[in-house]
Amino acid sequence: MSRPLRRWDILFAQMLSRMMRNPRTKFDEREFVKGGETYLLNYVSKNAGSIDENRRNFLKGLVIGVGAATVAGFIPGLSSLIPPNVGLTSFPKIILLASNGKPITASSIPVNEPIITVFLYPLQNEPNFLVNLGDENNNPVEIKPTTVTVPANGQKYKFPGGVGPYNSIVAYSAICQHLGCQPPEIHFYPPQYMKLGMAPPSSLTSQALQAATSANAPGVIHCDCHGSTYDPYHGASVLTGPTVRPLPFVLLEWDEKTDYLYAIGEGGVPVYGHVSDLTGGTPLSYDYTTVTQEVNPF
Ligand code: FES
Repeated sequence: MSRPLRRWDILFAQMLSRMMRNPRTKFDEREFVKGGETYLLNYVSKNAGSIDENRRNFLKGLVIGVGAATVAGFIPGLSSLIPPNVGLTSFPKIILLASNGKPITASSIPVNEPIITVFLYPLQNEPNFLVNLGDENNNPVEIKPTTVTVPANGQKYKFPGGVGPYNSIVAYSAICQHLGCQPPEIHFYPPQYMKLGMAPPSSLTSQALQAATSANAPGVIHCDCHGSTYDPYHGASVLTGPTVRPLPFVLLEWDEKTDYLYAIGEGGVPVYGHVSDLTGGTPLSYDYTTVTQEVNPF
């Protein structure tokens, strides 16, 4: 889906193109890959002055691919980085594999694991957390279906709850809904890390801890970039801003006989930076996705 570009957009894109090619104001593509929209906005504001609402929306549109096809002609540096407007027409059912290539079993996923554990689905640029949620004593907690409200517009949707032998396993997008930070900046804080004054990189504020207590969430998903906090025990709803959108969820299916897990869909709001969950990236090449353990952020 793209909106028509106005003459003003084209002129701005041409100016941006010249600026990016200029050795004195060179655009750093590696930093853009790391920082995404944040880097782009900072780059423009540093080199072209303040960014008004129209310009900000135009730049955001570039990052999520709106109008990108036309603008790519002016900005070769961006064209290779903007997610292609490709994708899927429906959600595939794919099995979750461990890094040894064998199907992951629900019973083998540690409860309250602080190590960032992610898998890609349904597109190659859509990482998701896989978490087995527990209480303060590391006993699995049943995650019940719930209604999640989107603070941005007041809309509500159903979160189906957890899966596995204790209904405690959930999967959420690992892309922060504020400005798109990804792991390790955004990660799960298990109950044992829900304290103030812990050694860095813990950056939970008293406001986040208070919101978690009020929501009866023993742990949170927190984005260290600007402090957004989500409640993984209740559909990754928003506990503290600046985000105004919950994390989307991946619909999981658990096969009781084999103990295997499958990703079968996605729900909630669209993944950050994507017009829809099914477009804006390359689909996975196989009928499986590998769950990887990244880093322990604590
Ligand atoms: S990108 Fe996560 S809080 Fe800003």
